[in-house]
Amino acid sequence: MHAAVPTLPTTFARLLEGAAPILALAPMQDVTDARFWALIQQRGGADVYWTEYFRVHAVSRLEKWIVADIETNPTGRPIVAQMIGNDIPSLLRTARELEKLPVAAIDLNLGCPAPIVFKKCAGGGLLREPQRIDAILGALRDAIRIKFTVKTRLGFHAVGEFERLLPIFARHALDALTIHVRTVAQGYRLPVHYDFVRTAVAALRCPVIGNGHIYSARQAQTVLAETGAHGLMIGRGVIRNPWLFNQIRQQLRGEPVVLPTGREVLAYIHELWESQVRLDAPEKIQCERMKKFMNYLGEGVAEDFLYRIRRSQTRREFFDLCRNFLDHDQPLPLAPADVHP
Ligand SMILES: Cc1cc2nc3c(=O)[nH]c(=O)nc-3n(C[C@H](O)[C@H](O)[C@H](O)COP(=O)(O)O)c2cc1C
Repeated sequence: MHAAVPTLPTTFARLLEGAAPILALAPMQDVTDARFWALIQQRGGADVYWTEYFRVHAVSRLEKWIVADIETNPTGRPIVAQMIGNDIPSLLRTARELEKLPVAAIDLNLGCPAPIVFKKCAGGGLLREPQRIDAILGALRDAIRIKFTVKTRLGFHAVGEFERLLPIFARHALDALTIHVRTVAQGYRLPVHYDFVRTAVAALRCPVIGNGHIYSARQAQTVLAETGAHGLMIGRGVIRNPWLFNQIRQQLRGEPVVLPTGREVLAYIHELWESQVRLDAPEKIQCERMKKFMNYLGEGVAEDFLYRIRRSQTRREFFDLCRNFLDHDQPLPLAPADVHP
């Protein structure tokens, strides 16, 4: 007789309780759809996938395309649905709707740095009002029956604000806290502050997941060891190197880390084009869509490559360039210059 196959929420619960670090694909608007999840899963994959955020306000409706991604879920792994907003009745209504979908957890975004979001005091904007966060987390924790997680930055203006936020996170029995180790004001600039992940691990009962500027397996291993984090969430590093989760697992098992060859990277770019580009759009628009991904990936190939890719206007130009740089069997580390591959 076969053992019962665990449901995806059970899988997520086991990841939270287990000893092995959780490797999560970060939510990235306009990038991390089901088609992108599938490409990553085919290359080893994350343990869990976050959706981009559902916008929540008085008259919001669940974004249909994110719901479709959740229902399609081509990964076989748990999905966490993220919400952004600050109106408690609307957040509660949305959480109830999300609980009816096949998601393993509901996550609240406390980190988005886009001015259009933070000026409305949502996402990272809420970090300026800890008491409001306290009320929101209390209401959501009471209402949500499945796992409830939060993704935060360290503060709005200064990392020192984290000291005031931490007791609030501790109070609400979160099922996990992901910390993007920057302030909102910092946007996506360096430095990253992983020491605050260590502080959070010591202060919280729930698993803490570190996030920000992870680009290599060795760096991931060091951050896990130095912070005691229960896992890592990675975004841009995985667009750039979709094999990264697998490489981290190899590194943690003490095995040699297998780098992709130029041709494997070329095949990934082809698959991105096939899955991400609207084939009925003009070629210039198709190239623009690909540049969204190439901005991250291109730098890992060669500086000159990215410069030239940004100027391509047709599919032919685009792929001629890709072939010039990538039609070879040499291994590619794909990491930035400041990160040891
Ligand atoms: C294009 C893009 C879109 C993003 N969209 C979201 C989002 O919807 N929700 C969220 O919590 N974070 C979002 N983020 C932030 C990432 O989840 C992550 O916290 C950040 O990129 C730092 O991690 P990384 O250095 O591994 O990319 C986005 C980041 C990028 C680059």
